[in-house]
Amino acid sequence: MIDHEALRRRAQELLADDVFAYYAAGAGAEVTLAREARAWDDVLLQPRVLRDVSRTTTVTQVLGHPLAAPVLVAPTAAQRLAHPSGEVGVALAARGTGALMVLSMRSSTPVEEVGAVGPFWQQLYVLRDRGITDEVARRAAAAGALALVVTVDTPQVASKRAGAPAVLPPLGIVPALDQRDVDDPRLRQAPDVGPHDLERLAELSGLPVVAKGVLSAQAARDCVAAGAAAVVVSTHGGRQLDGVVPSPVALPQVVEAVGARVEVYVDGGVRTGSHVLTALALGARAVLVGRPVLWALAAGGSHGVSALLAELTEEVREALVLAGCRSCADVGPDLVRR
Ligand SMILES: Cc1cc2nc3c(=O)[nH]c(=O)nc-3n(C[C@H](O)[C@H](O)[C@H](O)COP(=O)(O)O)c2cc1C
Repeated sequence: MIDHEALRRRAQELLADDVFAYYAAGAGAEVTLAREARAWDDVLLQPRVLRDVSRTTTVTQVLGHPLAAPVLVAPTAAQRLAHPSGEVGVALAARGTGALMVLSMRSSTPVEEVGAVGPFWQQLYVLRDRGITDEVARRAAAAGALALVVTVDTPQVASKRAGAPAVLPPLGIVPALDQRDVDDPRLRQAPDVGPHDLERLAELSGLPVVAKGVLSAQAARDCVAAGAAAVVVSTHGGRQLDGVVPSPVALPQVVEAVGARVEVYVDGGVRTGSHVLTALALGARAVLVGRPVLWALAAGGSHGVSALLAELTEEVREALVLAGCRSCADVGPDLVRR
């Protein structure tokens, strides 16, 4: 099994204090962050028995794109702060293990360099300057993005605890945004982000839009009504409104509301094969993993991320087998005790 605590400790030893604090922090009093660390383990699983699981497979698809396992790399900002290989290192690891990377708009590497490695999804914040937002979307589409992941839970960046910067520690520039100054107010998140933004981004890019950061049935319905082709149930890793419902608790209601029409993904505290199995049993199509990728990148560069993703895939395979499932599609709600 992946030793997440050891990975995190190693990253803490290697990273500058402010960088580690920026990555590790949650918002406010970190209530959500603490809840989410337990919430997946609080869901009780009940396996099937007497099933032939000799040919169990972890392969699946998201929006028609094949994955080796139902795992995507969550968008996290400024990965070159973790390791010089940064976003390209993560993209290589995702390609090599059959995972899919979601590239943050706050990337520290130009989108074209990531696109040269292979397919990816581009995360976007709707910025105060819509022109710059649209330019990033167009560049991502031209660089080979297969979907736009529009983060809808961030009308402004939430405050973090003392000692943890709410925005990037000084990196000076954000190459993904053409070297513009990170303190430029036009690059801050738009407080008036609305349904029209999702519609416009889908139209100008010709790509499916995934809405990231829903925690209720109504929020999911609003995003689907605005044209979202999929939604991500997410607390933003406990980094936006503090005190919100943990993702595994919110997930079933979102699946019930929109799961028949669009794919539903989930993130926040997903660490083990059992957590992934739980997510599938609660109706998710796939999970996203955030901080463990940053710790693995810091500790071992691209190889570290490859090892993490390969090990997680193996954990998912074992969880499927032990639950009596032959595939991701075979997982059902009967595996969870309500
Ligand atoms: C350091 C850091 C930076 C992040 N940057 C972004 C971002 O740029 N865009 C975004 O949509 N989510 C961002 N997130 C949230 C992640 O995409 C994801 O929702 C969260 O990390 C999942 O929880 P986990 O870290 O417990 O796996 C960030 C999270 C972290 C920890």
